[in-house]
This record gives sequence, structure tokens and C-alpha cells, in this order.
Amino acid sequence: MEERPTLPVAPDGSDALQVAVRVAEAAGAEITRRLPDTLGSGAKERLGLRTKGGWNDRVTEVDKAAEDAALAVLTNAFPEHDIFAEESGAHGGGSPFRWYVDPIDGTRNFASGLPHICVSVGLWAHGEPLVGVLLDPVRGETFTAAAGRGAALNGTPVSVSDESRMEEALLGFDIGYKGPEGKLLLAAVADLWPGFQSVRMMGSAALGITYAGCARLELYAHHYVQPWDIAAAIVFVREAGGIATDLNGGPLTPESGNIAAGAPRIHEQFLTATAGSLWRASAS
Ligand code: IPD
Ligand code: CA
Ligand code: CA
Repeated sequence: MEERPTLPVAPDGSDALQVAVRVAEAAGAEITRRLPDTLGSGAKERLGLRTKGGWNDRVTEVDKAAEDAALAVLTNAFPEHDIFAEESGAHGGGSPFRWYVDPIDGTRNFASGLPHICVSVGLWAHGEPLVGVLLDPVRGETFTAAAGRGAALNGTPVSVSDESRMEEALLGFDIGYKGPEGKLLLAAVADLWPGFQSVRMMGSAALGITYAGCARLELYAHHYVQPWDIAAAIVFVREAGGIATDLNGGPLTPESGNIAAGAPRIHEQFLTATAGSLWRASAS
């Protein structure tokens, strides 16, 4: 935590962190309503799962409904702010305030009834992180952070792991949707083994980074992420005392395209241990 910039305030007196929580809750309510449809065989059909874009990316009708609900709350509170949302793209233009909304991070988990998903709502201003809220509607967990104000889980302050030994570290990854890079990730993980305790494939980059912010993982890394995957979680992990860089240790923004984030001492050892790997070299 360093400076404590002032948060924008909506006409009803709520600050941007309070609004972000309401935005995430609006999406979360849509997801919760459809959770029964995720149970058992046939979930993909009930949820209207289909492919979008060119990278085997997936979307359901719930992603769209959740995003509509989130944006209704957000545009009501801050009509003049820019928004970049996964399913509907860019809204506005020219405001120094930019919101990033992923209505369901972990759509593929959701469509298989794997209870590991979140809503991600981030606010950046003038290229600096301001607010990050991640809501897991299955577990009823809300992760909140704002610049200079720390990170909390359901209101309780949290921090990154103090682990310093790589051999005790739990590392989180995701394979993403791009074939060659995913294969290089698996090779890099194989090369590291058994130099760390264990590995998890999360299925939600946003929750993976967030878990690295509250010591459930020591580190999370991904070679190909979109701005709405990471904008909120970067705020969270940094406010929790963590380090978040691009995959090669450089400066990170939501637009960087890749990420390594987590406990400072493990982050450093991970970058040293994977230096020169084809996986890191392949990161977009
Ligand atoms: C995806 C998840 C996944 C990651 C993909 C993302 P989505 O987001 O975060 O873990 O590997 O790269 O696109 O599509 O579920 O919002
Ligand atoms: Ca996502
Ligand atoms: Ca999504």
C-alpha cells in the first residue's frame, strides 16, 4: 500500500469500491439463479454454451445476462466512465476512468458444473489501478481491494503468503486457449518439477491471481490473458502485498497480455527458475 488516491463517488454518495461490489453482486445474482442448470449431464445445452472468436473461447447465455445486469448498475452510477466488458466490448471513450468487467471468469468451469468461477470488476484511472472486486457466487466470497486501502475477503484483511521456499510453493496456472503456448507451459512446469510442492490448473485466471493474493496459492501465472481477466485481480494481489508483473518480470497493465503474480519471494524464484524457457519467450 502506498498512496491513497481519492475514489470517484456516484450521485448516491457511494464510492467506486462500493459501486464495484454492487456491480459484481448484480452479475452474481444472475449466475446464482442459473446454478441449478449447471448440475449433471446436459448442462452445456441448458446454458447455451457455444464457441466464440478464433481461439476455442466459450460463452453461455448466462455470461451475457450477467454482463447486462452488471453494466446496468455501473452505467447508472458512473454514466460518464469508460467500460471495457468481455461480452459487449468497449463503451464510451475519453474518460480517464476505465472499468473492466468479466461477468463470468471460468465459463468452461461453469458449463461443466465445476464450482470455481467469479465475477471480476476492476477500475483503473490514468493507467493506474484503483479498485478490484472479485465475487465467487458459489462460495459466497467477495474479494475487495482499493489503492492504498489494502485487500479483504468478506471484509477481513488478507495478505499474500510469506512462504520463501519454492519447494513448499503451490503454483497455479491455466492453459488458456492457444495451442502452442499451452504445450510450452506444460513443458515448463515439467522442467520445474519437483522443485515446487504442487500445481493447480484453476480454470479461472481472475480467481487464480486472487488466490495468490490471499495465500491460497504462492503464485499464479498465465501466458495469454485479456484485460478483463486481470484488471481487478492485479489491484487485489498488489494491495495484499504481492508482486504482479508481466510473465517476463516487466511492468504490468490490464493490456499486457500475460501475468505472473503472487508472493514476492516465490515470484522472484519462479522468474529465475523459468528464465530462458520457451513458454515465457512465447508469451504474447
Ligand atoms: C478464461 C479463464 C481461463 C483462462 C482463459 C480465460 P473466461 O476466461 O480465465 O482460466 O485460461 O485464458 O480466457 O473465458 O472463462 O472468461
Ligand atoms: Ca475471463
Ligand atoms: Ca468471461
